[in-house]
Formats: sequence, C-alpha cells, structure tokens
Amino acid sequence: MYFGKTVEARIRDAELADAAKVLAMLEALDEESRFMMLEPGERGLDVARFAGWLADLRLMQDCYLVASNGDCILGFAHAERGRYLRSQHSASVVMGLLPRARGRGLGTRLLGAIDDWALRDGVSRLELTVMVHNAPAIGLYRKCGYFQEGVRRRSLIVDGVPVDELLMAKLLP
Ligand SMILES: CC(C)(COP(=O)(O)OP(=O)(O)OC[C@H]1O[C@@H](n2cnc3c(N)ncnc32)[C@H](O)[C@@H]1OP(=O)(O)O)[C@@H](O)C(=O)NCCC(=O)NCCS
Repeated sequence: MYFGKTVEARIRDAELADAAKVLAMLEALDEESRFMMLEPGERGLDVARFAGWLADLRLMQDCYLVASNGDCILGFAHAERGRYLRSQHSASVVMGLLPRARGRGLGTRLLGAIDDWALRDGVSRLELTVMVHNAPAIGLYRKCGYFQEGVRRRSLIVDGVPVDELLMAKLLP
C-alpha cells in the first residue's frame, strides 16, 4: 500500500481486538529494524497472552497508542509509568513504525499524543533510550522536545557488537 506525503492514519488507543495485528506489526518490526530492543522471534508471545498484557496495561494506567489506517496497524507508541509512588509521575516511552509509514510525520503525531496522555494523567517526565547511531529517532526526539541526559555505555550488544545508548527525557508542566 502506498502512502502519500500526508498519511491518512489515525492515532488512537490500542483495543484488545487489535492484539493480533499489533503483535504481527511488532514481530515485523523486530525482523526488519536493528534499532528495536528485541531480536527477531524473541518476543515469544501468542495473541491471547499479548491481549492479556494489553488489558493489564490499562489497569496500570499506562498508554499504548497505535497508528492505524483502516484495518492496518502501521506503528505504535507505548508509555509505561513508574510502579512506585515516587516514580509514577515518570514514564518510559518505546515506539516504532513499519518502514512504509516512516518519514511522513506519524512519529511526531504519536509523540504528540503521548504528551496529551501524560498531561491528562499526571505524568510530568517522559524518558527513553535510543541507540547512538539511530539518527532518525534521535532527530524525532529532539524535534519533540527530548533532551539528552546521558550515555549508557555498551548497554546493548547487537549482532555481536557493543552499542551505546543515549538516555533522553522531556519534562512536562
Ligand atoms: C524513529 C521513527 C519512529 C521516526 O518516525 P517518523 O514518522 O519517521 O518521523 P517523522 O516523519 O515524524 O519525522 C520527525 C523528525 O524525525 C527526524 N527524522 C525522521 N526520519 C529521518 C531520517 N530518515 N533521517 C534523519 N532524521 C529523520 C527528523 O528530524 C524529522 O523532522 P523533520 O520532518 O522536520 O525533518 C521511525 O523512523 C521508526 O519507526 N524507525 C524504526 C524503529 C525505531 O528506530 N524506533 C525507535 C527506537 S528508539
């Protein structure tokens, strides 16, 4: 499917009924991108378990957004808040889009929707990690107001090679 410069995509909360399609999108991303956390095939979740995980996530008041076009799930952004009284104002963000949906503003829209959720739900700090050579993602995060706070040296090993990650964060009112 071809997407023009403006993508006819909706940004919305993931529904339990999306579980199979979201899982398939995540598995496709794990296969294609060397910038996600998991190796291909490492997720090891079936649809029922993934749907259960999505349901738990709602109970924890976390946020799981998808970019969808009709029946197609193009990408996601997930924000998981701290589990303790002293950290529940802070959330860790992970996101990714299928290759055909990149470079058309959807990443910016997903992070804007994460900001909206955070402002509504009393989250005042959003943080994430990103591999130091992931220029598109670093560009997106800077554009959306995230600042570098540090470097996690050799925090990952990807294809046998040690990789540093940037820790980036954004403070909200
Ligand atoms: C990172 C990712 C989410 C960006 O989403 P996107 O929808 O392509 O980003 P946008 O179109 O909203 O672009 C926003 C900004 O990101 C940066 N950017 C996006 N694509 C870029 C590229 N190929 N090269 C350099 N900068 C890029 C630019 O600063 C851009 O701003 P501009 O359009 O004003 O120049 C997407 O590339 C992706 O899913 N990559 C694979 C998975 C991944 O790396 N996930 C993040 C793991 S930390």
